[in-house]
Amino acid sequence: MSDTLATEHVSAEVPEYPMERAARCPFAPPLPMLEMGEAKPLSRVRIWNGTTPWLITGHEVARALFSDSRVSVDDRRDGFPHWNEHMLSTVNKRPRSVFTSDAEEHTRFRRMLSKPFTFKRVEALRTAIQEVTDQCIDEILSGPQPADIVAKLALPVPTKVISEMLGVPYEDHEFFQHHANVGLARYASAEEGQKGAMSLHKYLIDLVEKKMENPSEDAVSDLAERVTAGEISVKEAAQLGTGLLIAGHETTANMIGIGVLALLENPEQAALLRDSDDPKFIANAAEELMRYLSIIQNGQRRVAIEDIEIAGETIRAGEGIIIDLAPANWDASAYPEPDKLDFTRDASQQLGFGYGRHQCVGQQLARAELQIVFHTLLRRIPTLKLAIPFDEVPFKHDRLAYGVYELPVTW
Ligand code: HEM
Repeated sequence: MSDTLATEHVSAEVPEYPMERAARCPFAPPLPMLEMGEAKPLSRVRIWNGTTPWLITGHEVARALFSDSRVSVDDRRDGFPHWNEHMLSTVNKRPRSVFTSDAEEHTRFRRMLSKPFTFKRVEALRTAIQEVTDQCIDEILSGPQPADIVAKLALPVPTKVISEMLGVPYEDHEFFQHHANVGLARYASAEEGQKGAMSLHKYLIDLVEKKMENPSEDAVSDLAERVTAGEISVKEAAQLGTGLLIAGHETTANMIGIGVLALLENPEQAALLRDSDDPKFIANAAEELMRYLSIIQNGQRRVAIEDIEIAGETIRAGEGIIIDLAPANWDASAYPEPDKLDFTRDASQQLGFGYGRHQCVGQQLARAELQIVFHTLLRRIPTLKLAIPFDEVPFKHDRLAYGVYELPVTW
């Protein structure tokens, strides 16, 4: 048999990636991926351009590769497994960012972003997060039924909190939120989207300049400080501020929306959370929801820059790596009975925020929001229930972050 035929034979068996979650078990990772994970923690998959990068499905291998300096996030390198043709064609046009830089370059970006997201700063925001959550729930309770949890709670809480965090003056909240939403709206035309983004960018430039004169304890003031120190330009600072807004908005919103649905489908677990006053239990429940739902669903993309021996395989230099968080978080060797949402298990090692040097900058903020929102909602509306049949809930199979488009509820 010729080599070509042998190669074709092997490659015909390589499954296509990405894979979709099954409609009948919408909380589970895609089922073929779970089967691959049961066989071994890493295997080949075929992506849109015909290449066959490694798909990592095992928890331990995922953690090892996330923290391995022979693994790069630089999407300009040969062999990098791009999401799609568009991402490949724009690779040299996109400015380098915290997401696509390694080593010292990454540290430089990361340092500019981390300060507002430290544990201490986020803890100080808890009162504000609680207030925003309570206001949203007041509005739900005084409004008509059914109410959409996505529009009334999941979207406004992270949007308002990030505005607070960036240090947007209170009287500008409405303008800020409006333009942020136009920029992010699913059905906005390209023109509308661009207009929204431009107004927001201009607004942030203005804000950076104001904060250079009158700094306070907030993220834009931190960026303004970098401008004053000559480390970045005003435009770059505004760009970073807009980036934070976008990275921190849809992700947390999706996690709240689908998290509420998971709670409604698991009433015993919801009751445990509702009845607990223990901050550790409440925090672990949010981690378990992160593990169970793993909403980032396009795989974390990497490329090997040296040969790596791992779990009995060799990843060669120049080969693509896709670390998929969902199967890694459902790896039975790390989490027995992974398909059970169980607030009593220790979920602290869940990988929903990634791991290693690129682990989510906003994780402390997202955690505080999730803990407060889920607990408060269950306490204040204990009779909450889904207003439509479960199989009519519209899931976001087509987006980078998994979630629900809407979640009508009654009480
Ligand atoms: C539930 C909500 C969130 C989820 C599930 C989430 C998930 C993630 C994941 C998986 C990564 C790692 C990417 C990788 O290794 O390739 C990441 C990175 C990042 N996230 Fe989040 N995130 C959330 C909320 C936020 C918030 C609130 C912010 C900021 C306001 C934020 C900003 C960032 C940034 C800037 C990075 C890049 C870090 C780096 O490359 O060094 N995220 N996030």
